[in-house]
Amino acid sequence: MSSSIPAWKDKILFTPGPLTTSPTVKQAMLRDLGSRDYAFIGIVRDVRARLLDLAQASKGEYECVIMQGSGTFSVESVISSSIPAEGKLLILVNGAYGRRIHSIAKVHNIAADVLDFGEDTLVDPATVSAALTKDPAITHVAIVHCETTTGIINDINAIGQVVTAAGRRYIVDSMSAFGGVEVNVPAGNIDFIVSSSNKCVEGVPGFAFVIAKKAALDECRGRARTLVLDLYAQWEGLEKDGQFRFTPPTHSLLAFHQALLELEAEGGIKARAARYRANHDLMISGMRALGFRPFLPDSLQGNIITSFYYPQDPKFDFSVFYGKLNDRGYVIYPGKVSTAECFRIGHIGRMDTNDAQDLLAAIRDVVAEMGFQP
Ligand SMILES: Cc1ncc(COP(=O)(O)O)c(C=O)c1O
Repeated sequence: MSSSIPAWKDKILFTPGPLTTSPTVKQAMLRDLGSRDYAFIGIVRDVRARLLDLAQASKGEYECVIMQGSGTFSVESVISSSIPAEGKLLILVNGAYGRRIHSIAKVHNIAADVLDFGEDTLVDPATVSAALTKDPAITHVAIVHCETTTGIINDINAIGQVVTAAGRRYIVDSMSAFGGVEVNVPAGNIDFIVSSSNKCVEGVPGFAFVIAKKAALDECRGRARTLVLDLYAQWEGLEKDGQFRFTPPTHSLLAFHQALLELEAEGGIKARAARYRANHDLMISGMRALGFRPFLPDSLQGNIITSFYYPQDPKFDFSVFYGKLNDRGYVIYPGKVSTAECFRIGHIGRMDTNDAQDLLAAIRDVVAEMGFQP
């Protein structure tokens, strides 16, 4: 860490999560609550209700299930709990997180097909519709909302219409988008949508959550392939007495509750999405002015995260670039695009355009110091 950064000051995380959180979110964790105590049960109840509100879903028609672990645990929970032994999953892929859903299906011996659109292309409703017509064995369809690999945002409502019209169940991994992109889960015909505590709600890691259509959740009864990731049993436990079946991350839930209050105070998802959009717009135009090139065309680029091509100049070395920015107090993110060398800059978390300006100034500095042409 450079001597100009006070030891107590965390670096700003321009990452897709864990991300920079507010001091008050961190402070909310300075309590010890019993996991079976009334106070904690009340907080869990409020968190679940608020998450349904964010999804624009009503209790009874939809249910909120919180699951310990990172986001992938909840994606695996949905995949391994919802698809029957004789079922088949169609995975709509345009990045690494779609491919991960396929890996989950393979581990559980779930029949699965992949429709791969390429990492720089939106999932296309007509192609999905044709695939569903062609293969009546498909029972469930999964898609990633914001493919964090690139930052592309799929039109989950358009795909939802096609999937529902074909009578299949619809699973959305909205890990990096939920809370930062407006989504009406019932209007999108979504049966299961998944996100986690350390993304756009701006909490800390520890758990993920599923908003599930009650009718689809009911079908999960007895279908689980694991004990801990049994989505239906987890919901049943939470409904019975408000408690988790197994030890919950109490501190992380306290932080998340505070983060939800702060999301409301900011003006809800609409206001948060606008803040992220402003961060994004400033960063893209600033990076372009420096000579960096985004991987995606503007028309496909969402407000969550942006992938930039590595500069061609041999004087560019990502680990040196990363380290020098890190020394100045800014954490950027390595790339995940499979066909091109890229790095990523996230626009989410407790930061605004002042922070984006500061990062741009630091990048300008580092480019000059390293002497490469972006
Ligand atoms: C779209 C998407 N899906 C799944 C995950 C996996 O989440 P986790 O690393 O919390 O398991 C991520 C993580 O960034 C993501 O962006």
